[in-house]
Amino acid sequence: MQKKTLKVLHFSDIHVGTLVRHMQWKKWFSKRAIGAINLLRGRAAYFDEVEEKMAAMVRFKEANDIDIVINTGDYTALGLEHELVLARELMDPLMHPPQRYLTVPGNHDIYVHEGSSHYRFSEQFCSVLQNDLPEYCAGGHYPLVRLIGEDAAVIALNSAKPNPWPWRSDGHIPTVQLDAFKKMLEDPRIAGRFLFVITHYAPRLADGTPDRKLHGLHNADALLHACAPIEQGAILFGHVHRTYRVDVPEVKIPLFCAGSATMEGHEGAWVYELNAGVLSHRQLYWNGEAYTLDPKY
Ligand SMILES: [Fe+2]
Ligand SMILES: [Fe+2]
Repeated sequence: MQKKTLKVLHFSDIHVGTLVRHMQWKKWFSKRAIGAINLLRGRAAYFDEVEEKMAAMVRFKEANDIDIVINTGDYTALGLEHELVLARELMDPLMHPPQRYLTVPGNHDIYVHEGSSHYRFSEQFCSVLQNDLPEYCAGGHYPLVRLIGEDAAVIALNSAKPNPWPWRSDGHIPTVQLDAFKKMLEDPRIAGRFLFVITHYAPRLADGTPDRKLHGLHNADALLHACAPIEQGAILFGHVHRTYRVDVPEVKIPLFCAGSATMEGHEGAWVYELNAGVLSHRQLYWNGEAYTLDPKY
């Protein structure tokens, strides 16, 4: 029998660091060269304790009766294979059963276009990319749907794309995915459910405005337009390393940015509780040793 309240843990942007010495020389002549230099210049220091924090996230999940885990991408710093392998290992205890873990890649997980960059992500996360309505797949694994009991579903859209220039970290949801998503909303297997729509990029910032062009989601308006018919649900994302909730006039459902679960001094995430179609939410904080629902502890 399904329990009455569905508990969802949503976190993002853990940015498992890389040891730059592992990189092959060829890869320095690309966006990674800039990314690696940035890492060397100190960005990595903000993500020094990813492994300890993810161990704490596992403890939080186990202690809090979490039903569904959602990770909205940016697992890595540079999308290198050994970073993705490490990220996969850190996520492993959160990915059981795989039907209860949903994810999308972030822009850092497909950092440069090498032909295999998308494949590399799906290779590591293949066990959690099963789709309950695969007939809607359009150009890859997405849109990816997971039906949760009789009353809820998670729909994942992939907004990450390789960026050819180091100063760009913008994203785009392919039109074929959005078209499939719109059709899916009319499917009787989806209609009437509470829908968590997840993607990496933020459709809106904390103040309700769009992100800037070189950092944001190009077709944020199209995504919000596609979500307009949804009566009950939430749009979940990361990319912006700040945890916030915002309501915008374009949609009837709230937007939640998980921020970064691991960025030192900015750690955050969300726990949502869905009970009889009503969503409540609590922010997750880091107290130096554990994740906690109360900022004072
Ligand atoms: Fe990020
Ligand atoms: Fe990102």
